[in-house]
Amino acid sequence: MVTEDEAMRRAIALAARGLGTTSPNPVVGCLLLSAAGEVVGEGFHAYAGGPHAEIVALAQAGDRAQGGTAVVTLEPCNHTGRTGPCAQALIAAGIRRVVIAVDDPTPVAAGGAATLRAAGVEITTGVRRQEAESGNVAWLTAVRRGRPYVTWKYAATLDGRSAAADGTSMWITSEPARRDVHRLRSTVDAIVAGVGTVLADDPQLTVRDLRDGSLAIKQPLRVVVDSAGRTPGKARVRDAAAETWIATADALGAGPDGHVDLSALLRELFARGVRAVLLEGGPTLAGAFLAAGLVDRVVGYVAPKLLGDGRTALVDAGVTTIADAIDLDFTDITQIGPDLRFTASLRPKEA
Ligand SMILES: NC(=O)c1ccc[n+]([C@@H]2O[C@H](COP(=O)([O-])OP(=O)(O)OC[C@H]3O[C@@H](n4cnc5c(N)ncnc54)[C@H](OP(=O)(O)O)[C@@H]3O)[C@@H](O)[C@H]2O)c1
Repeated sequence: MVTEDEAMRRAIALAARGLGTTSPNPVVGCLLLSAAGEVVGEGFHAYAGGPHAEIVALAQAGDRAQGGTAVVTLEPCNHTGRTGPCAQALIAAGIRRVVIAVDDPTPVAAGGAATLRAAGVEITTGVRRQEAESGNVAWLTAVRRGRPYVTWKYAATLDGRSAAADGTSMWITSEPARRDVHRLRSTVDAIVAGVGTVLADDPQLTVRDLRDGSLAIKQPLRVVVDSAGRTPGKARVRDAAAETWIATADALGAGPDGHVDLSALLRELFARGVRAVLLEGGPTLAGAFLAAGLVDRVVGYVAPKLLGDGRTALVDAGVTTIADAIDLDFTDITQIGPDLRFTASLRPKEA
């Protein structure tokens, strides 16, 4: 026997297994409890086009779902897309009660709860809502704003330097921290870097195992923001390891400063199904994203090193006076090997 609250906690953990492979869909987890409260099925949405979490759990439960409860992190969908509507499948399986963490904000899929209610199914919503929202924050933010959720990631010394005075920057942080970056990359749909970083470091921008260099099966789209198309033909981002888009001003238009229009860039990525972006800098491009209000979260890897000179982690974020400082809230601080990783969300600007 598990409580519905415990079942939701498990469903949220299951949902997280889909991070990085479900876009443009959300991550969703589902547990099915029998009428006696036993877990009879569980599932998560693993990839876009694949079965939804409820369908996976129903297949496991079979007849044991009859008269039972479905505990789902997101309102069951009501529409036929690449798969059939989950609300109907739950009704057909004889589910009596559905416990939902978060309502579906998309007009096309919403309405599942109303369909279930109309069929006499009892509905409870809002169970562990905050936790489920934060597990799905990229997708929820993306569909609400019509642009991908942007995480700016950087590595710096304790005095906020991202490169030494002579331009050297590899490796500021330890191998455990760099391994963690690859884990972070595996949760997003696109990795974005400025042409300055490509010219300076020739990065691969792939998800790989740092021990042997082997590539993960699923690679995020690599995006180089490169107004005039200066990315060298032999740059490693152009290799066959992953798909790459050199985003130029010709394709997207330019802002008044002559650089690529970053809002247009994010709109185009959203249209291509990208919901989560990892912005890997460098400092100039990150500053431009922040100045335009296009960053949602910051993940910083800070090494216990001091440089005293050299490139700062961020250049010109449009702030000239302390009253205009960009405010964030720490949501996590973790030690990784000798380094610290902090995660902070940007506070929405007051109107
Ligand atoms: N420690 C870290 O976490 C980290 C991460 C990345 C890089 N780095 C370091 O950062 C250094 C490179 O930094 P960087 O600042 O020169 O390069 P960057 O931020 O990667 O790229 C800057 C370039 O992006 C292009 N760009 C396109 N659209 C833009 C826009 N709307 N606004 C601003 N720029 C736009 C501009 O060139 P065009 O106008 O030609 O397009 C600009 O010069 C390297 O030393 C690298 O090692 C450190």
